[in-house]
Formats: sequence, C-alpha cells, structure tokens
Amino acid sequence: MQIEVIVLAAGQGTRMTSRIPKVLHTVGGKPMLTRVLETVNSLSPSQTHVVIGDNASGFHSLYDEFHVNWVHQSEQLGTGHAVLQALPYLNEGSHALVVYGDCPLVKPSTLKRCTVEGQDGVGLVSAVVPDPFGLGRIIRNPSGEVEAIIEQTDISSDQCAIDEINSGILSASVGFLSEYLPRLTDNNAQGEIYLTDLVAEAVSKGVQVNAIQATDYREVLGVNDRIQLAQVERIFQQRQAEDLMKQGVSIADPSRFDCRGSVKAGMDCSMDINVILEGDIELGDNVQIGSNCILRNVQIASNTIIKENTVIEDAKIGRECSVGPFARIRPGTTLDDNVGIGNFVEIKNSQLASGVKAAHLAYLGDTEIGTDTNIGAGAITCNYDGKDKHRTIIGDNVFIGSNSSLIAPITIESGSAVAAGSSITRNVDTDALVIERAEQRVVKGGGTRFRRR
Ligand code: UD1
Ligand code: CA
Repeated sequence: MQIEVIVLAAGQGTRMTSRIPKVLHTVGGKPMLTRVLETVNSLSPSQTHVVIGDNASGFHSLYDEFHVNWVHQSEQLGTGHAVLQALPYLNEGSHALVVYGDCPLVKPSTLKRCTVEGQDGVGLVSAVVPDPFGLGRIIRNPSGEVEAIIEQTDISSDQCAIDEINSGILSASVGFLSEYLPRLTDNNAQGEIYLTDLVAEAVSKGVQVNAIQATDYREVLGVNDRIQLAQVERIFQQRQAEDLMKQGVSIADPSRFDCRGSVKAGMDCSMDINVILEGDIELGDNVQIGSNCILRNVQIASNTIIKENTVIEDAKIGRECSVGPFARIRPGTTLDDNVGIGNFVEIKNSQLASGVKAAHLAYLGDTEIGTDTNIGAGAITCNYDGKDKHRTIIGDNVFIGSNSSLIAPITIESGSAVAAGSSITRNVDTDALVIERAEQRVVKGGGTRFRRR
C-alpha cells in the first residue's frame, strides 16, 4: 500500500495570539510541525504534502531536508477545504493519511493502525478524554458503529457529555477523498468546510468507518493556545524522563526535568531537579548532575560530577572530574580526566589536561593547560586586547598564584610558578619563579595615624 500523508498546518492559530504560525511553536525545543513530520516519516510515505498559509515562506528553508510538497491554502476555510487543496497532488492509486500539525505527540504505531483501519473505507483515531470541551465528538449508533463527528460549536446539549473525541487523524483512499471531499459544505456554525463531515457522508453512502481509540489519550492532544502548548510540553517531557529512567538514569523529579534535544546515557547517572538538557548530550556511567544545571551539546565521561547551578555549552568533559557549583564552561572547551573546576570559574575555548585544578573565581579563555597545573583563585587570562583574541599556553605542573593576570599571547613553561598578584606580560621559562608586583612598604605606627585622619 502506497501511503501519501497530508499534514494540515495552515493558519496562525488565532488562539495562540502570536506572529509565529502555530505549528512552528516548539515542543521539546522543536517546532510541532517538525515533530509531526518526523513521526510521519517513520511510515515511509511515498510523498508528504503539507498545507500551509500564504504567510509561511519561512517554512521552505526550515524544512529542506524533509522533501515535502508544500500546498498553499490562501484562506483557512476549514480542515476539509485544506485537504481539498492537496487533492490535485495525490496519486489516484495511493492511500491518504491526514494528520494535524498541531498534534505533536502522536506515535508512529497509532498512525500505522489508522492506515490499516482505513483500508476499506475511512479509518480514524479517537480517544476518550477527561475534558472533551472544544473537541469534535464521535457519535455512535446503539450498536456502537461510528455515525458522525460533531464539532463543539454544532453540538446539541445531550451530545455534550460524550467523552470520545476526534483526534483529527484520518485515513482513506485517494479515490474516496476525490469522490467525497467535493461534496462537503460549510453549512455549520463556523461556516467552515469540516473534514470531519466526511464521516457522516461516508456512513450515509454505506462506506465503512472504523475508529480506533488511542491507548493513551494524551498522545492525541492538540494545541490551540499557549496553555495547551504548556500541557503538551509537560507530557512530552514526562515521556522523555520515563524513557531515560528506563535506561538507568535517576531523575529526582520528572516534573522538573527538561530535555530539548537527545540524550545518550550510561548506567546509574543521576539528575537532580531543574536540569535542562539541550542539543546532543552524551553521558558515560555514573555521571551526577546537580540541580539547576544547564547542559547544551555536552559530552561527559564516567564518574564525573557536575555540581548545582553549572552551565556547560559545546564542551567535552573527561572522567572523574568535578565541575561547579556555579561554574560556566563555554564552547570549545575540553577538560581531560580528573579536572577540578570550582565556583565562579569561567572557561572558554580552552583545553585543560588531566589533573588541572581551578577551584575558585577564575577566567580561562583561549588557553591550553598541561597536567596537574593549579590555577589560583582570581587568576585570569587577559585574552582580548580590545581588538584580537590571543592564546595562553601553560605547561605541566605550573602554579599560577591567586589574582594573577596572564596577558596573552603568552607561554608559561612547565614546572614554573607565578606569584600571587602578578601581571605577567613576558613568557616564563621552565622551572622559573616569577614575581611581578610592587614591593611591600611598611610604615611603623602608620595604623594609628591612618585612623586619626
Ligand atoms: C479539529 C477537528 C476536531 C478535533 C480536533 C482535534 C475539524 C473540523 N475539527 O478541531 O474534530 O477534535 O481538531 O485536535 O477538523 N488547518 C488548516 N487549514 C484550515 C483549518 C485548519 O490547515 O483551513 C489546520 C490547522 O493548522 C491545524 C489543524 O488543521 O493544525 C486543525 O485545525 P484547528 O482549527 O486547530 O481545528 P480544531 O478546532 O482543533
Ligand atoms: Ca486544533
């Protein structure tokens, strides 16, 4: 069976109150439409048609890799009208699957079941929901067969209590759609051409309509406003947290966990509350992430601990390291094994070899540091001269005293020591001790005079 998918994605979504098209609002860091297209692709459709409005030129470049056929619907005259716009592009012999772009949590298995159900007529996905208000209701006859879908605005008071709703996912042969879609009218409260009217039309002509219920109603929730967007986001995050927990990651509170990317994790990693993961994250075994950490495109090897309130971006961190609390590791940084980074240390575009320690208040930018070197509190690399960035090279086993300024470009050779408070402007040789600060003056009894001023 050759499947062609039609994704309905036109319109701003008035209830979003936004300048951004509704389906470009994100769930788990990705536009809802991207999530829907990724799910749809798992069915290997022969073609995917996406119906968008006229204000949607931005879509084309965003979705290059998806190779979709863009269908323009200038005026949003309803979901039935939207499918009609796609009809001329469909192959007569194909089977069509319609999905809504504002329904990002749907699973591939549900879409597959729907196409199977629609083989000899119309297949649709319904769900029993705790609060059906606002959604299309599935009307069944006394023997349980689907008879129609009635929209909220057209509903009679006795139908209000029906809690089986239409998800919007529907499948039928292209032949069926070509025959029945043009018959739909906008004779309803909203004056729109409803795709859902296909059901009553099919039933009246003796075409079989099969509704399968989603196993979990949350999968088919649609997003019409920002409140529903936040609800769908939480459901999505809960799912991801559960997946990670099944893989052997402990998550202190799944309702305070956010992943907006992908995570590969070894065993026995743990995440305290309010951790945010973005981009591609790879964790070895037994990596511990403290509360309020933000990690963006980060690799962390086994047995490393990232303490609370640390932000790490585009960086690679070795085994048995300790980073934070309150550390900031910026792009281009690699920490080898056994590195210790303490509070208020900022590191950018730097390579720290194993055993390096920078325990307090330091800035290391464009720096290379050899094994077992110690960076004292308040030490900084002056990597920027107001115009260009310069590198600082520090060898193995170097001691950089507290509050020293290393003015780049500069090389501090292995085994050397820089005295606290020094401003270093010239290269330091191997094993040298460099002290660069004004000599201390002592005025005897000066304390009393000072206080009497
Ligand atoms: C729709 C269904 C309703 C179902 C609900 C599930 C109809 C008439 N109603 O209602 O039965 O319970 O979804 O979430 O189908 N769109 C277009 N062009 C249009 C109109 C809509 O492309 O002219 C797209 C929208 O971008 C959206 C999707 O179709 O992604 C659904 O439209 P929406 O207006 O949100 O329909 P609902 O009122 O939610
Ligand atoms: Ca909707």
